[in-house]
Amino acid sequence: MSLPSINPTKTEAWKALEKHFQQIESQEMQQVFLENPNRAERFKIEWQDFYVDYSKNRITEKTISLLFKLAEEVKLKEAITQQFSGEKINETENRAVLHTALRDFDNMKPEVKAALQKIKLFSEKIISGNHKGYTGKAITDIVNIGIGGSHLGPEMVTEALQFYRNHIKIHFIANIDGDDVTEKLNKLNPETTLFIVVSKSFTTQETIANASVVREWFLKKGAENDIQKHFVAVSANEKGAKEFGISEDNIFPMQDWVGGRFSLWSSVGLSVCCAVGFKNFEELLKGAFEMDNHFKKEDFEKNIPVVLALLSIWYNNFFKAESEAVVAYSQYLNKLVPYLQQAVMESNGKSVDRNGEKVNYQTGTIVWGNVGSNSQHAYFQLLHQGTKLIPTDFIGFSEPLHDNIENHNILMANFFAQTEALCEGTYNKKVENPFKYFEGNKPTNTILIKKLTPKNLGSLIALYEHKLFVQGIIWNIFSFDQWGVELGKTIAKGTLATIEKREPSAIVSASTQQLINKFLELKS
Ligand code: F6P
Repeated sequence: MSLPSINPTKTEAWKALEKHFQQIESQEMQQVFLENPNRAERFKIEWQDFYVDYSKNRITEKTISLLFKLAEEVKLKEAITQQFSGEKINETENRAVLHTALRDFDNMKPEVKAALQKIKLFSEKIISGNHKGYTGKAITDIVNIGIGGSHLGPEMVTEALQFYRNHIKIHFIANIDGDDVTEKLNKLNPETTLFIVVSKSFTTQETIANASVVREWFLKKGAENDIQKHFVAVSANEKGAKEFGISEDNIFPMQDWVGGRFSLWSSVGLSVCCAVGFKNFEELLKGAFEMDNHFKKEDFEKNIPVVLALLSIWYNNFFKAESEAVVAYSQYLNKLVPYLQQAVMESNGKSVDRNGEKVNYQTGTIVWGNVGSNSQHAYFQLLHQGTKLIPTDFIGFSEPLHDNIENHNILMANFFAQTEALCEGTYNKKVENPFKYFEGNKPTNTILIKKLTPKNLGSLIALYEHKLFVQGIIWNIFSFDQWGVELGKTIAKGTLATIEKREPSAIVSASTQQLINKFLELKS
């Protein structure tokens, strides 16, 4: 069965939200809090180790109930069931969307179990030192060669779980930038390095080119038949991986029904597993599984991904906010934003609806941000006093992982102070100097989590996966394809041929032709 395809702007709820927006557009949260001190109690969700406060939003009871009505009218509940039951909701690619099946501990598919077993055994051999390189030495370094979903998830998680890591050092080669590849290889010893070539398609230009460069580098010291000790692949394209020279035993599977940007839970997480051990990897999966159950079963009123998605729609489509920020108060989460950028923007950056019609409303939130407190000393000025409305998620942890309580208290004092300053501004204070005036009334969500454990990290990532799913359903777009990345790839083949043959006249665009002419002139 196809996903429902309902134009959200034609629903009763949307029309009511438009009217409602006009009534509360100028409402000040500061005043609303004064009138209702219970607001913080009312607009919060407690779930496992998570405490989500969404009281600092420009909403009333009515806003929330209309947003839930919108979710009902676009048949969100039915869409959630369709996703989890494996229907082919990625219609433009005729695929199911089942990354949740990779962590479904209640009903695990045999192929998922087998893949997990394979990465468990392999990672144990690497960590114990039983897997030897071609000179008999244990592996000390792992390089994940992959890009997009085959890079961002593993890198974000290995960074985030640094506290749980063992002695194996993990590196990432993603960019086709040859200087970066050389810099990384210069620090590595082929005798003790394992390369994991990660590519669902095994056709991605950057990954195949980089893997070939790395293989050449390796063969300067090692021999052809040493490759199997140092190169493994993670791919859905077994044939492609074999043609590259990777033996069948060294190929870890990926499924057709897992999109690249949702694949860190699959064999794509092999580098994570080697870095933190299988037990921690499994905990990560369990955390995501718990969030899946919460999303699937909880009423919308208490459903964290649903509530956060609806609030985001409220700002994007009614307040016309152009972007939203995510600020995690943990250096461990410094790669969270690039990860979310692919997940959210590759999924929902679409302008054709599920009926094939061009949409006449805004979709696709722009996500940006960085870690706190660093961000306070960079772009927070704009959040506080700029002209743009930028709803922001603040993510923080009650407990630090090491014992520096003093620093952690300062970190978290800033975390709480910023959401308060954004909301309250200088309301009710006499400010003579206009440059020191703060309007306040800036919306934030506070996601307070007990501790950064593998399990809680899994839940946090799954929360954002489900949030973007809800938004795609409401916007009536297909969130699980990415046709938008194809045109550039095709043109790049032509520009590369032009550069190699030094024949810019073959280029259609006069501007590009002139640029390539200049490029060739400058480099020679
Ligand atoms: O170019 C976009 C994309 O297709 C992403 O969706 C994907 O995560 C990335 O490229 C890498 O793809 P692959 O894993 O097939 O190399």
